[in-house]
Amino acid sequence: MCGIVGYIGEQQAAPILLDGLSKLEYRGYDSAGIAIFNNNQIEIAKAKGRLSVLAEKTDNGNAIKGTMGIGHTRWATHGEPSDVNSHPHISMSGRFAVVHNGIIENYASLKKKLTERGFEFISETDTEVIAHLFEYYYKGDIMDAMIRVINRVEGSYALGVLCSDYPDQFIAVRKASPLIVGLGEKENFIASDVTAILKHTRDIYYLDDNEMVVLKKDGVKVYNKDKEEITKEKFTVDWDVSAAEKGGYEHFMMKEIEEQPKAIRDTISPRIKDGKIVLDDISLTAEDIKNINKIYIVACGSAYHVGVVGKYVIEKMCRIPVEVQVASEFRYCNPIINKNNLVIVISQSGETADTLEALKEAKKRGARILSIVNVVGSSIANASDDVIYTWAGPEIAVATTKAYSTQLVVIYLIAAYMAEKLGMLTSSEYTDFISEIEALPDKVAKILESKEELQYLASKFFNCHSIFFIGRNLDYAVSLEGSLKLKEISYIHSEAYAAGELKHGTISLIEDGTLVVALATGKELFDKTVSNMEEVKARHAVVMGVTTENREISEKAVDYIIEIPEAHEILLPSLSVVPLQLFSYYVASLKGCDIDKPRNLAKSVTVE
Ligand code: AGP
Repeated sequence: MCGIVGYIGEQQAAPILLDGLSKLEYRGYDSAGIAIFNNNQIEIAKAKGRLSVLAEKTDNGNAIKGTMGIGHTRWATHGEPSDVNSHPHISMSGRFAVVHNGIIENYASLKKKLTERGFEFISETDTEVIAHLFEYYYKGDIMDAMIRVINRVEGSYALGVLCSDYPDQFIAVRKASPLIVGLGEKENFIASDVTAILKHTRDIYYLDDNEMVVLKKDGVKVYNKDKEEITKEKFTVDWDVSAAEKGGYEHFMMKEIEEQPKAIRDTISPRIKDGKIVLDDISLTAEDIKNINKIYIVACGSAYHVGVVGKYVIEKMCRIPVEVQVASEFRYCNPIINKNNLVIVISQSGETADTLEALKEAKKRGARILSIVNVVGSSIANASDDVIYTWAGPEIAVATTKAYSTQLVVIYLIAAYMAEKLGMLTSSEYTDFISEIEALPDKVAKILESKEELQYLASKFFNCHSIFFIGRNLDYAVSLEGSLKLKEISYIHSEAYAAGELKHGTISLIEDGTLVVALATGKELFDKTVSNMEEVKARHAVVMGVTTENREISEKAVDYIIEIPEAHEILLPSLSVVPLQLFSYYVASLKGCDIDKPRNLAKSVTVE
């Protein structure tokens, strides 16, 4: 997704902007640019391609002087990646420069109207419309112009705006696209997320929708759409700068795989006190829970896969019907929802457009929204009735691992919390379940100790053209995630299939040497899954089995076995996913793929 950084202070702005943008590269982009106020005018530099192209063009920012500026990394939505389409965009007089993250949905009609009034467009972007609208509405007060612009445009935006009539300030605003304000000593910032400015300040404001901010070097003021100043809560980010860096690992992804024991522990420990699950984050009373007659889980990608696990877990423990849907489908299916429905929304970034819009559709229909989010103050978090944060810390790699794992444990906590309130668990079952959850970090750590085994297996299969993942029930849910991990970072085609479904068509694809990764960790369906393994092996597939320790699987059914520690059946997804993450990582590494920034992908998909 696009990234925005803005600076005003006493230092040269350009190098600070370039450095901040480099911390946002993981969001995915195809061009970059900066605009600096200097000698009563705005100087622009922008370039297609990696940030290094822009750095070279500006001598690492030293070629452009000035202590106030805005910068942008663009992920193309309207108009191909090119110099002219990259941000910042300027108004015809050169008075305004604008950077934007989001989509202006009515840009075409606005562009037509402005063109009819003599405005000339040079780019294909929606953003350029904003630059000209500022020109069109400006009568000497930039805040008034901003208010008229945001009343006119439809869609999502985080905007940073320079105006050459205002040498000592710049302004910003957000709607449905993240933007934070960094509060420094004689310097202030805007950024799409904290990693861009952690080096300079840990004190931030999270802007909410339609909040405008005026930044001067000595202070920051936030206003609502009525131009009334508002007081914002200051957050102090406790992430170390190193937490946002690689910390010695070759890739963020491996760092984050290895961080899973800590991330899981950080997520569960504040919610287990004196042997009880304590969810202070939510206001669901026992009465509310008793009145829930259906649960929807809505998310995208890996977060959706957590939802599939959630369906099995919540239905097993609470006997409440659960429907899981991908957000891009849910939001357009006119969902049948009533006030006794609980909608659980899962999102690492808290900014995924489809998920946020699905949340709004559910809310419009009277559902209660509980979200599971990794970014404090994100749009999805702010739009929810209740939020349970996953304390995974910043997840930089596009392919999620630790956030996925922490979302899983929050699902277990919610299921057990509700089951206990519903009287579905005896006290000993409840106590045992809690101690099993608390044992998960060490069991994940134990699996990570034998990652060389997965490295070896990856060396045997990294040239495969297609790999199948199969399983039943919770094992099927995890096979979905294993397949996605492999696809998104190694670019190898893969399919996840309910093991019992293979015989209904897909088994025709199995041929000599086809790799089938079979998850057989559940007890109840173990024998049936082993039978499916024998079916594919009989057709000359190569079978890599994932199962719990001390399980016997005959060589008629499997060629390689990966063992995970025993655990409560419901918690096994947290363990069986880890070998699949490692396998995908090593396969992608052997293929020389760009593991942290896979082609075509973005960390947070903030557009449809
Ligand atoms: C997962 O590895 C992918 N990066 C992607 O599927 C991701 O899970 C999806 O885009 C949802 O993102 P979110 O959790 O930030 O909403």
